Amino acid sequence: MATVISGLKGIKTVRDFELEGKVVFLRLDLNVPMENGKITDQNRIVASLPTIKYCMEKGAKLVLASHLGRPKTKDDKEFSLEPVAKALQEHLDAEVILIEEPDSDAPVHLLPSLKKNQLLLLENVRFEEGETQDSNEFAQKIANYADIYINDAFGASHRAHATIHALPMIMKEKGIGLLIEKEINMLDSLLQNPKRPYIAVMGGSKVSDKIAVIERLMDVVDGFIIGGAMAYTFLKAQGHPVGKSLVEKDKVKYAKEMIERIQARDKTILFPVDHVATKSIKDTENAHTTKDVVIAEDEMAVDIGPQTIRNFSAALKAAGTIFWNGPMGVFETPAFSKGTFSIAKAIAESEAIKIVGGGDSAAAAEASGFAGQMTHISTGGGASLEYLQGDKLPGLEVLRVRIR
Ligand code: 3PG
Repeated sequence: MATVISGLKGIKTVRDFELEGKVVFLRLDLNVPMENGKITDQNRIVASLPTIKYCMEKGAKLVLASHLGRPKTKDDKEFSLEPVAKALQEHLDAEVILIEEPDSDAPVHLLPSLKKNQLLLLENVRFEEGETQDSNEFAQKIANYADIYINDAFGASHRAHATIHALPMIMKEKGIGLLIEKEINMLDSLLQNPKRPYIAVMGGSKVSDKIAVIERLMDVVDGFIIGGAMAYTFLKAQGHPVGKSLVEKDKVKYAKEMIERIQARDKTILFPVDHVATKSIKDTENAHTTKDVVIAEDEMAVDIGPQTIRNFSAALKAAGTIFWNGPMGVFETPAFSKGTFSIAKAIAESEAIKIVGGGDSAAAAEASGFAGQMTHISTGGGASLEYLQGDKLPGLEVLRVRIR
């Protein structure tokens, strides 16, 4: 197995800087879900608080920034950070001044007289088209007033965007915040010296999204549990009738080889042995549990069945480390949530170190009511997968001091 070195090697943290009186530009991932202008999940805001508070306590003058969603123009006001500014204000008991134009020089004028309990928040950086273009010009405008650059936006660190990449390229003083430090340490613990047995629970809709991470984990874990829609490409590869269940046809051969390679390494791999099946996702009334692995021609699997829940839960009970990425079924529909929530419960109740990937998995853990019992729930969906599969995150690499 390849030796993995710490993902934080050569990267400074916010604790390494003298912050008193300095202008700290703090890039966060405050991309929170909203409905009708109301934040429906504050996790990313709450996870950002320790670094903000640390900087405030150390006397820094803070300029916060984040993206929110994927606005097409700056007139897409539904993507405004205004509700986030209000939420931050409540959490911090400080005044958060929202700067409407992310590329304006308003901070230059406001910073000199900024009081201790005031901080600036740039409006959605994606309102500025230079953000996604990794524009040096946009970055330079920020560099003109910032002394220290801190990235704590773990969930966006896989994006080579201006406030993640171009800006730290030109800043001399740069490092990460406390959230990224924790995220990388947690993910590194899944790659080196994990407590055994180590089980990866993979789910979600597409095998293609998870191939690279399964490849990387194949040599590290002791076993895989595969559920969710992606399981049906594997079951098809094993010759089981999967009905209308989602199958990635061009990945069936690969899935077959993957099973063989996992077994050749003497690792276990568990699949669903029964399912909740129905004619369409909308048809909750006629959904039923199959008596075995076979799914009727005109039906699709939407959740794992009771015997599968028992099998998966028994394997999880004995685990020393669990990595969970992807729901077991269409958990957003209450009738099809039992599998995902039961697995969340089994993970929560196990004595293992249990780390949950971001995105859908974080949402599923949250919806299950067991989020509080997990060791760590990542704030980054794409970012945590990319890191685990061995990709270099532009937002981290740019902060690494090369030691010759
Ligand atoms: C996320 O929600 O995964 C991050 O905030 C990144 O957002 P993006 O996929 O729009 O770049």
